[in-house]
Amino acid sequence: MSAAEPAGADAAAVTTLIRARRTVHEFTARRPPHALVLEALDAARWAPNHHRTEPWRFTLLGPQAIARVIDLNTEFVRAKNGDAAAANKRARWQAVPGWLVVTCVRSDDPVREREDYAACCCAVQNFALALWAAGIGSKWSTGALTRDPRFLTAIEADAAREFCVGLVWYGYAAAIPAQTRKPLADVLRDVD
Ligand SMILES: Cc1cc2nc3c(=O)[nH]c(=O)nc-3n(C[C@H](O)[C@H](O)[C@H](O)COP(=O)(O)O)c2cc1C
Repeated sequence: MSAAEPAGADAAAVTTLIRARRTVHEFTARRPPHALVLEALDAARWAPNHHRTEPWRFTLLGPQAIARVIDLNTEFVRAKNGDAAAANKRARWQAVPGWLVVTCVRSDDPVREREDYAACCCAVQNFALALWAAGIGSKWSTGALTRDPRFLTAIEADAAREFCVGLVWYGYAAAIPAQTRKPLADVLRDVD
């Protein structure tokens, strides 16, 4: 333990950042600087994690891994919705500038695994917020593809040891969607 008080952060700036972050669905072609992405990952791993398991694993995808993932997804879409839909999806995915996969180390203990998954989710949010502070958007996705063991093979992870928390796309936003939340009173119980 060191200081008796938390490190001073500008509280208003933090809450403004949290509220302003949006899931981005359309990116420009400009690739975010690698150094900025590494800084955001470095911040991501300061997430809380019970028993200090640091259960997150971050896989940044290069061109070959991206191509394998896109091929696999195209196969999925073709089987479900046909050739035209598959070609359309391939083109959209090929335009995504940045690809990260966050995985969680498996545990034999279901309570430990649940807590480790929670920690990894906090890490994803840290990553998204750190990027957003640098003007970079992201999208956390968990489509059926990400639950298929072939997805982990395509990114050179071991499905026996890790499971996918999210495929996170990142880049500069071409558009920032609007979002709302229910009023706080709808989700708050103030128990005496
Ligand atoms: C665990 C998780 C999985 C998600 N998976 C998807 C997804 O597969 N596709 C998608 O479009 N958005 C996905 N999202 C993003 C949500 O749709 C998004 O957070 C929600 O619409 C609220 O928008 P906001 O992030 O801009 O506040 C996911 C979010 C979380 C937390």
